[in-house]
Amino acid sequence: MKRFLKIIFGSFSLFIALIAVGLGYLKTNTIARQKFFAGFLNKISDENNTAMMALRCNEVLSHSRIHGHVLEIGAGTGINLACLHNNTRIIDYIGMEPNTHMYSYIQTAIKQWNVPFEVRLSSNSATAMTDVESNSIDTIIMIFVLCSVPDPLSKELLIEAHRVLKSGGELHLLEHIAADSNMKPMMYAFQRFIEPAWTIIGDGCRFKPTTNYLDQMKTIYTKVSYQKIEIPIPIIVARDGIKGVLTK
Ligand SMILES: C[S@@+](CC[C@H](N)C(=O)[O-])C[C@H]1O[C@@H](n2cnc3c(N)ncnc32)[C@H](O)[C@@H]1O
Repeated sequence: MKRFLKIIFGSFSLFIALIAVGLGYLKTNTIARQKFFAGFLNKISDENNTAMMALRCNEVLSHSRIHGHVLEIGAGTGINLACLHNNTRIIDYIGMEPNTHMYSYIQTAIKQWNVPFEVRLSSNSATAMTDVESNSIDTIIMIFVLCSVPDPLSKELLIEAHRVLKSGGELHLLEHIAADSNMKPMMYAFQRFIEPAWTIIGDGCRFKPTTNYLDQMKTIYTKVSYQKIEIPIPIIVARDGIKGVLTK
């Protein structure tokens, strides 16, 4: 029995040590981390999750909302093209995505959905969209991006989005956020506990009080509206979310 326990304990310690070494490697090697994250995101971006796809396609990216010259901030693996490809109101689409290891997945999505409009990919950060003219974009899409943008760049990103939007243009967003520390103290504490590892695996993603950034935009945008929602994904710790619209 003692020997058996020793083996179990030894195997468990080895397993933890391997995870720690892997996380340490990803933390210090940006290219490896971005490659890992692109593959990981592609694995967990599940188009068969009907509740999640309904939230993306029917609520945040419905055809009545998304039109004209469209800019997606943080296009990721191109999963949102599943919602956009048959939207005849889209003239063209810019996918702003600094992690170029995502591009092969985006190209696959473009082929898979036979995307009819012109697509341009840009590796710029959305905090400095030097290749996008001021007042040129009708609709901005941003899904699960602000969590990855370090402070104080979230504010800069939202101000830069305002610059490129046409007057009356809209930014449609969906984000996962930090749990409310008063309403859900256990979840909030758990998020804080796992955040160091979560940030490495999620290439910079944190549990953030995103509504604060949106509230700061009320003096810059004509209208800022958002509501708290539960995101229908299996990863319980990332279910607290918001969806919203910022209008220039
Ligand atoms: C969690 S992924 C979400 C991807 C996709 N929007 C989705 O719905 O699955 C966040 C994405 O934002 C991108 N990102 C992070 N910082 C960015 C920035 N400053 N400008 C543009 N994209 C950024 C990351 O490279 C990553 O692809």
